Amino acid sequence: MDKFVIEGGRQLQGAIQVNGAKNAALPMMAASLLLEQGDRLVLRNVPNLVDIRTMGTLLGKLGVRVTRNRDVMTMHVTDDTPVIAPYEIVKKMRASICVLGPLVGRRRAAKVSQPGGCVIGVRPVDLHVRGLADLGVEIAMKRGYLEADASNLKGRTVYLGGAYGPSVTGTQNVLMAAVLAEGTTLIECAACEPEVQALAELLNGMGARIEGIGSPRLTVQGVSHLHGTKAAVIPDRIEAATFMAAAAVTRGNVRINKCRPDHMIAPLESFRMAGIETESGEDWIDVHSTGSFKPVDITTLPYPGFPTDFQAQFMAVMSLGSGISVITEKIYPDRFMHVPELTRMGAKIRKEGTCAIIAGVDQLTGAEVMASDLRASAGLVVAGMAAEGFTEIHRVYHIDRGYQNLERRLCDLGARVSRVSEKKDNTYIREAV
Ligand code: EPZ
Repeated sequence: MDKFVIEGGRQLQGAIQVNGAKNAALPMMAASLLLEQGDRLVLRNVPNLVDIRTMGTLLGKLGVRVTRNRDVMTMHVTDDTPVIAPYEIVKKMRASICVLGPLVGRRRAAKVSQPGGCVIGVRPVDLHVRGLADLGVEIAMKRGYLEADASNLKGRTVYLGGAYGPSVTGTQNVLMAAVLAEGTTLIECAACEPEVQALAELLNGMGARIEGIGSPRLTVQGVSHLHGTKAAVIPDRIEAATFMAAAAVTRGNVRINKCRPDHMIAPLESFRMAGIETESGEDWIDVHSTGSFKPVDITTLPYPGFPTDFQAQFMAVMSLGSGISVITEKIYPDRFMHVPELTRMGAKIRKEGTCAIIAGVDQLTGAEVMASDLRASAGLVVAGMAAEGFTEIHRVYHIDRGYQNLERRLCDLGARVSRVSEKKDNTYIREAV
């Protein structure tokens, strides 16, 4: 198991490039299950991440041969009969649930292990189940597996509103079932995230007929079959925002290239309100930071609201703000695992229900902290970049799930981040970066 050792206080300078989005690539890869035997789907700008490899392994179990050449991934359907997504793979990655919709749509049956909860919340899949049932799918949970029989799959109206708003992967699953359902499906209260839009555009490129992309109402005219195509994965807006935060807390001057500022209006607005200078073009963002930030209150919301996946990183910035800011988490009420770790670094944060109240401090100090999930650990990396002295972040495998070579890319901007392998007997081996 590895940890990061970060020497803080180093100003970030220069340009960095954003990779393709994990949360767009995963459902796009799963869409290959909608194809017929012998057909291929080619995706480029696919990030090289643990979760992408996990999806590749899962698709392999489902008759799809997945090959990769640099950032280009080819999904070739060699056998369109398997329908089981086993526990041993699904337990590693919740997003495995994205195979449910395409299996139902194309193979008219599925047996997918129900994903468990995770540290950020209970995370039920009732909206996925309800949406598919509305399309005439007989679906029930049996021995930890969602078993679906879609012999009567038919287009209908589906309402996907939940207690915390629409579901991103829930919308993606219902969409991938509806594209091959006889008749018209109307999805009301659909999620509008760029990753949902990207999937819908890919499906239309495969021959689907989806209208209303980007809005909470999607209309799908079912078709009899789909065909292979080539597409590019959209840039990762959360990775881009993470680099913005790292630049901000290090008084940095950083150009973030190959991103989509039009997908990042809420984070950019929160930076503007904090008094952090940014400038953006079609596919780049410049951050020029003085290191002083005004306090900003944010509430995480479904897109286009402030993304919950950027909450921890923004909290690290606000922990250095000149006043009191309040962060309200409306998507995952318990998503505050990073709070006690930031407090170990000298941040002044009090959790009250679904809010964190942050009293900004002048300086954070390096400490040993524990990563608990992907975005919480990104928040700790941002804090470590600003902290005085050394920060050691344990369990960075969480980071590898969603950020490719993060330490090397930050070092290219002038940071000092080492990946250190933690031998079971706690002997440390320092690896030169
Ligand atoms: C996607 O998860 C992302 N994952 C998450 O990113 C992201 O945090 C989340 O959307 C919200 O933006 C992927 O795209 C692979 P939801 P998803 O269904 O689809 C509740 C990261 O860091 N809900 O939109 O699983 C749910 O509990 C990850 O990259 C139900 O109640 O999220 C949550 O409170 C973490 N019933 C809210 O809705 C359901 O059936 C939103 O969940 C489904 C969800």
